[in-house]
Amino acid sequence: MSETRKRVVAVDGPAGAGKSTVSKIVAARLEYTYIDTGAMYRAVALKVLESKLPLTEEAIIDAARTVEIDQQSVDGVTKTFLDGRDVSTEIRTPEVSKIVSPVAKVGFVRQRLTELQRKMAARGGVLMDGRDIGTVVLPTADVKIFLTASVEERARRRFEELKAKGFDVTLEEIEKDIATRDKIDSEREIAPLKQADDAILLDTTGLSIEEVTAAIIKLI
Ligand code: DC
Repeated sequence: MSETRKRVVAVDGPAGAGKSTVSKIVAARLEYTYIDTGAMYRAVALKVLESKLPLTEEAIIDAARTVEIDQQSVDGVTKTFLDGRDVSTEIRTPEVSKIVSPVAKVGFVRQRLTELQRKMAARGGVLMDGRDIGTVVLPTADVKIFLTASVEERARRRFEELKAKGFDVTLEEIEKDIATRDKIDSEREIAPLKQADDAILLDTTGLSIEEVTAAIIKLI
């Protein structure tokens, strides 16, 4: 890739559309830095959970005010650090998934993480995935992709993923959680989940990981 200028790529879309799976593969193949912004919101949510305080705006702001979040590639795997501790596994539990959308609605949280994400993208050669990357965080990104899939397919993918990790979940539970998160993420006042006007829409329903990966690499 050295002969090609490295670009800034924004990948947005709802939960389970395949963003992180394909983004990781694309970034590795193009030797780009992969930034998982959902993991950063999840880290703040984990901090709120660990505080054992009720889920109030005050508790969320309190956690976000002092939080230190970092993402580093360790042996080619993106790891998320919360206050210096590797929390890459803990942030994927159903408990964190349940509270992450309410946490991500809070203006102060978004402001802090958006600032951090812009700093992380400043060097280029970055592929960032989230909900508001093409619209708010990096509006001047060179390539913007909006990944989506039917709610049933997205729920099925998350179900398989969690089952493989040994979580005791049902497909109905996951479908309900995904639908609730879609609603909160799309209807929130600040930086809602929305396709940017200049983003390319890619519906991954029925497509394989390799098909989606190839389509994105072609676009970049
Ligand atoms: O991609 P994910 O499922 O790990 O994201 C977790 C939550 O974080 C998601 O429900 C909404 C929120 N989020 C956000 O509001 N903005 C982003 N850029 C990324 C994630």
